Amino acid sequence: MTKVITLGQFIIEKQADFPYAKGELSRLLRDIGIAAKIVNREVNKAGLVDILGDNGTTNIQGEGQKKLDVYADEQFISALRSGGECCVVASEEHDDCIFIDSHVSRNAKYIVCIDPLDGSSNIDVNVSVGTIFSIYRRTDPGGPIRLEEVLQKGTQQVAAGYVIYGSSTMLVYTTGKGVNGFTLDPSIGEFCLSHPNMRIPLDGTIYSINEGNYVKFPQGVKDYIKYCQVEEPETNRPFTSRYIGSMVADVHRNLIKGGVFLYPTTSSHPQGKLRLMYECNPLAFIIEQAGGKATDGWRRILDIQPQELHERTPIFIGSIAMVEKVEEFIQLKT
Ligand code: AHG
Ligand code: MN
Ligand code: MN
Ligand code: MN
Repeated sequence: MTKVITLGQFIIEKQADFPYAKGELSRLLRDIGIAAKIVNREVNKAGLVDILGDNGTTNIQGEGQKKLDVYADEQFISALRSGGECCVVASEEHDDCIFIDSHVSRNAKYIVCIDPLDGSSNIDVNVSVGTIFSIYRRTDPGGPIRLEEVLQKGTQQVAAGYVIYGSSTMLVYTTGKGVNGFTLDPSIGEFCLSHPNMRIPLDGTIYSINEGNYVKFPQGVKDYIKYCQVEEPETNRPFTSRYIGSMVADVHRNLIKGGVFLYPTTSSHPQGKLRLMYECNPLAFIIEQAGGKATDGWRRILDIQPQELHERTPIFIGSIAMVEKVEEFIQLKT
């Protein structure tokens, strides 16, 4: 019988990796884990409670918010507010940053960027959805919090993670020392270490893209898709196409099996659709820490200097060999 290691125990054990930290990051990760369990409870009974369907509101992205978008957003912000370790939250569901100025948090040292519910289009059809979070340290502690402190490059993240509410509920995170996955054991209400030291295969045969946008893709991406479909057994082609529509689920599958996820620019999204601060940067940090690669076709995602809170970027993320093949096609045709 292998020893059960809970997320809380693991965080404390890994505390030793951060001699300068006094437990604040550990408590922050614990707060996020608690909110994830609360959201999971609603996701798991979505068909039975009034949590499906539209909320009747629109967010800054111009998306119709789902009830679960708003519920998840409320739960994570509430957990961060009461946990006292976070001084400001940037959420997909809010135009501006939420400054948590309770006396407890005023000196808090961490900034959290969050996509509370990723893959909203899948909520009502019982397909996997997720939560994505990214944690930065304040650059000017003690002073008034400025937007510039939130707009840090992905390389400055101190931690990043995601929750996937799927056939099981997992929390996967990194603090820059590898990637570890925890599966929620509902019988004890704890995330338990199930995937220690996750590594993404260096190559793969799964490509993940919304081919419905084919005509709108740059020529290099079109050429790559055709490359994937060529019959060439010695290079394991044609590859397999898998697209779930929740970035977390598509990236998680590729992390385990190998593969590449592509969300290029399209005519409807000339900057790309996915958001840098709370989708691309955290997932890029995780995939790099697991031995993979994440790029906008030219630049490392983590090196992009954010200019705006909700800015978008094209992203190609996954197994190194596959991402580099995509870059080859893109750079050839630009
Ligand atoms: P969100 O639900 O947080 O708005 O994110 C949805 C994103 C991402 O999860 C997914 O990969 C992508 O949108 C799917 O976009 P398309 O439906 O355009 O393929
Ligand atoms: Mn959304
Ligand atoms: Mn999302
Ligand atoms: Mn979302």
